[in-house]
Amino acid sequence: MEIKKVGVIGCGLMGHGIVQVAAQGGFDVVAFEADQGALDKGLGRIEKSLGKLASKNVEKGKMTEDQAGEWVQTTWGRVSGSTDKADLADCDLIVEAIVENLDVKKSLFQELGAMVKDSAIFASNTSSFPIMEMAEASGRPARFVGLHFFNPVQLMRLVEVVRTEATDGDVFDAAKRFGEACGKTAVACKDTPGFVVNRLLVPYMVQAINMLDRGDASKEDIDAAMQFGCGYPMGPLTLTDYVGLDTTLSILEGWVDRYPNEPAFSIPDSLRQKVSEGKLGRKTGEGYYVWEGDKKK
Ligand SMILES: NC(=O)c1ccc[n+]([C@@H]2O[C@H](COP(=O)([O-])OP(=O)(O)OC[C@H]3O[C@@H](n4cnc5c(N)ncnc54)[C@H](O)[C@@H]3O)[C@@H](O)[C@H]2O)c1
Repeated sequence: MEIKKVGVIGCGLMGHGIVQVAAQGGFDVVAFEADQGALDKGLGRIEKSLGKLASKNVEKGKMTEDQAGEWVQTTWGRVSGSTDKADLADCDLIVEAIVENLDVKKSLFQELGAMVKDSAIFASNTSSFPIMEMAEASGRPARFVGLHFFNPVQLMRLVEVVRTEATDGDVFDAAKRFGEACGKTAVACKDTPGFVVNRLLVPYMVQAINMLDRGDASKEDIDAAMQFGCGYPMGPLTLTDYVGLDTTLSILEGWVDRYPNEPAFSIPDSLRQKVSEGKLGRKTGEGYYVWEGDKKK
């Protein structure tokens, strides 16, 4: 089972990065978006990022100017953009990175299942939904995996490769090889809520919020404790502001709904309150901290 041509659906924050690392890994990639404006924006981000990476390689003496130019041209040459789903029909692998809405994802996979070649593998980059639900909707559950990349895709070194009970062993192996070819460390996990990283990280963020809300410690001290006591690059409350309070809440709501008896899944009142006030974190200028661009006030 050889993957040569990859389709990436959704060219937003995650999708454009997946297109780029796949092209850097030597795959031919079709970047698909619902409309031309979003596609142009996504492709523009890739072009800019490739240029930046090439300049860095020249600065570090890893490439000459000529080699860098050639590398950008070759990598960019593997990428094509499309707003026509027919261009996805002969892809060996399709990676979905559209909006985090299960019904929208399921109807997309149902449509793809009917029009993409039977041997193709389907993957979702979802952060919080069960892979199995989309696998069933696609009509080809044996050929379906989760490929969960991390933001920013170009820099983060992990991809979680998720198998359901129905995933064929060869399909899983091919998806894992793809992740590795994209330059990532690929870890295997089952189709459980949050896979590995978010299952550990989100309850940890909730505990930090609870600690703050109880008044056990200040937000600055909670963050400093984890930063300097554990060597984490940032503390849990800063991290929540970076992820977005709305995203964190929506992940938790899905989990609490589906797994009401799991004590690790709970929703702090302050999180709900802040989201209802439009305090969504760094992106709106206030969450648990007040922000001025990238800096905390
Ligand atoms: N943002 C993160 O940190 C992160 C990390 C890991 C995984 N994810 C997951 O990746 C997926 C995408 O998230 P994102 O942050 O890149 O979102 P985003 O909003 O930046 O990008 C989504 C893109 O999909 C396009 N789109 C929406 N519906 C479409 C459709 N039907 N057909 C084609 N294109 C469509 C939009 O135009 C947009 O460009 C989500 O499932 C999310 O849970 C996000």
